[in-house]
Amino acid sequence: MVKKSLVSAPGKIIISGEHSVVYGQPALLSAINKRLYVQIEENNQGVRIMADEPTELAEYALEKTREFLGERINHLKIKIKSEVPVNRGLGSSAALSVAMVGALFRWVGREWNKSLINQLALTIEKKQHQNPSGGDNSVSCFGGLMAFQQGKIRRLKTKFDFQKFILIDSGQAIESTGEMVAGVGRKFQAPNSKTQKILDELGKITLRFIEEFKDPRHFDYSKCLISKNQRLLEKLGVVGKKAQRLVRLIEEQGGAAKICGAGGVKEGSGVLLCYHQNPKILLDFTQKEQIPYFKLKLGEEGLRDEN
Ligand code: MEV
Repeated sequence: MVKKSLVSAPGKIIISGEHSVVYGQPALLSAINKRLYVQIEENNQGVRIMADEPTELAEYALEKTREFLGERINHLKIKIKSEVPVNRGLGSSAALSVAMVGALFRWVGREWNKSLINQLALTIEKKQHQNPSGGDNSVSCFGGLMAFQQGKIRRLKTKFDFQKFILIDSGQAIESTGEMVAGVGRKFQAPNSKTQKILDELGKITLRFIEEFKDPRHFDYSKCLISKNQRLLEKLGVVGKKAQRLVRLIEEQGGAAKICGAGGVKEGSGVLLCYHQNPKILLDFTQKEQIPYFKLKLGEEGLRDEN
């Protein structure tokens, strides 16, 4: 057993395919430059978890990983520090699940098997979201830019200019990802539902995005894909009024924006992925509207041993 185990896992954005990925459509995801850190040290007595956010998911991750490892892991001091804001569509729970499992694997000296860590992280995500696609935990675990569909991962390389993206915050969603996914599920089940058609359209846009990311030829094409994607997510009923207003204002400035996670309707819808040929226009916009923003790096490293 090591004296200290410190690992980190990144947050994520979904460039295209949120919600539709739950129904078997492809998604294009990227790990981002915001990380969650889990540190484990020996504790005199029992388990102590220290975090800025509620610790239920971390406790559940500990229970599941203990069960899997078949070891009595006790007397732990677990410190969680996160740069990934919660309920913003940035995959904070996936980063926590992946990093907790990774840190515990390190603590007991288990082989650093990312596929196994990812599988276990998915079972933990199920507690949080009931019906996760597995995309969020996979991109947090393996990192980079990836196409994900029905559990299958394809790593992508891109020539895209990521400097042209920023994330702006439309506010914290008060609904959980599980609630948002369940809401789409109810619409899907409703008689005469148009949801299947919307999900199919989202799937087609994602496939075009994946092609575009391989070889982006012109700005207008991506801009148009982002806007179409956003309109379909609005039709799906996962984007609140505040975020819709911000998207329209960004479009008026010549840019495009979309939510990049589960969304939210009652208050905020999480962060918006914003794109502009001239990103300075977006930065000026955030200043004028006094909206928090993050500069974004895509394709970041996945689960990492920080020891
Ligand atoms: C949440 O980040 C993404 C969703 O598509 C749910 C999932 O893929 O499990 C809304």
